[in-house]
Amino acid sequence: MSLHHHPQSPILDHCPETLPAEAYHDPGWYALEQRTIWARTWVAAGRLSDLKPGTMKRLTVGAASVILCRTPDGGLSAFHNVCRHRGAELCSHDTQPMGKLVTCKYHAFAYAAKDGRLVATGHAHPTDDFRKEDHGLMKVAVKVWAGFVFVNLSEAPGEIEPDMGLAYLDNWPMDSLVTGHRMVKDLACNWKVFWENYNECLHCPGVHPELCDMVPIYGTGIMGRNEAPDWTPDEAPQPMLKEGAATWTASGAPCGPEFPNLSPVERQNGYNFVTVYPAMFVVAHVDYVRAVYLEPTGPETTRLTAEWYFPQETLDQPGFDAAEVAAFAKIVMAQDCEVAELNQRGLRSPAYQHGTLMPEEYAIHDFHKWILRNMEEAV
Ligand code: FES
Ligand SMILES: [Fe+2]
Repeated sequence: MSLHHHPQSPILDHCPETLPAEAYHDPGWYALEQRTIWARTWVAAGRLSDLKPGTMKRLTVGAASVILCRTPDGGLSAFHNVCRHRGAELCSHDTQPMGKLVTCKYHAFAYAAKDGRLVATGHAHPTDDFRKEDHGLMKVAVKVWAGFVFVNLSEAPGEIEPDMGLAYLDNWPMDSLVTGHRMVKDLACNWKVFWENYNECLHCPGVHPELCDMVPIYGTGIMGRNEAPDWTPDEAPQPMLKEGAATWTASGAPCGPEFPNLSPVERQNGYNFVTVYPAMFVVAHVDYVRAVYLEPTGPETTRLTAEWYFPQETLDQPGFDAAEVAAFAKIVMAQDCEVAELNQRGLRSPAYQHGTLMPEEYAIHDFHKWILRNMEEAV
């Protein structure tokens, strides 16, 4: 532990190395991540409520294309996006309407959307050696937590593991929230560069003037009181937002009725983060919730999708504009995206081998250990 910090402070007692440079641009490293991390963990895939019954949604999970099927009766299933006949892609759009069957466009093999069973073989008349039951769609594990859909390519998936635990959002009415705003942005950086930026606040004073005004402690380069040299564990939790602010909006005023069941600490925090590596984080406020999803699209490119969720009552207020609420976090995300791309351009330097983390970057160190552990366990 650092001499200046309480032993229970998360601040590191040394300055560890970062991941090596090739982790951020080498196609071989990227392919290995796809086979290990992205093929074995629960990957967030949006809100269940945004997938209407009778709809199929196409996703990219690591190297795999996957279809999520919301059957007309409201059931949910997931399969690899490939026909068992001769391998045609089944869904060629981000979403498409679907009945009880998933039908291949090529030769009309049809599968039950509920369980992937092969139901019909179009104009083909297979001989007795062809057993329909051996030719169903290839299943992908699917689960719903807090209204979020997760898929896992592994045949023996473990539990979903949000860093704050499965119960953390229990005081928010997650299942009933409605998506009011969405932003999609393609970033010129490796997906891990975005997470590294997320995991430290050393950049906050220089990069985020508006956020530091809203969260004064960020203006000192730390994320919480337990990172301060004078912190002790018996210190009472303090409000995180500036005086008079209750949430992350331009004015700090809630955009609608506050969620009724939050604890005093959850309310006082003003923002409550949950991280679900590798694909999503959630920020829960007193009046709305935001989620950010990451999808690697190449060794040096990442698609970011941010969504804002509200009670229906809030959306129904006369003159309500979800884009106005989203504007605050959009300013912050634009600032983060700019420095993430700046980071990526530098990481390509042939002179750069690896960097060095500062003690305040303990959460990046944990992220790197998570990455390496997942890659090693799979090999
Ligand atoms: S490839 Fe799908 S039916 Fe032939
Ligand atoms: Fe930031």
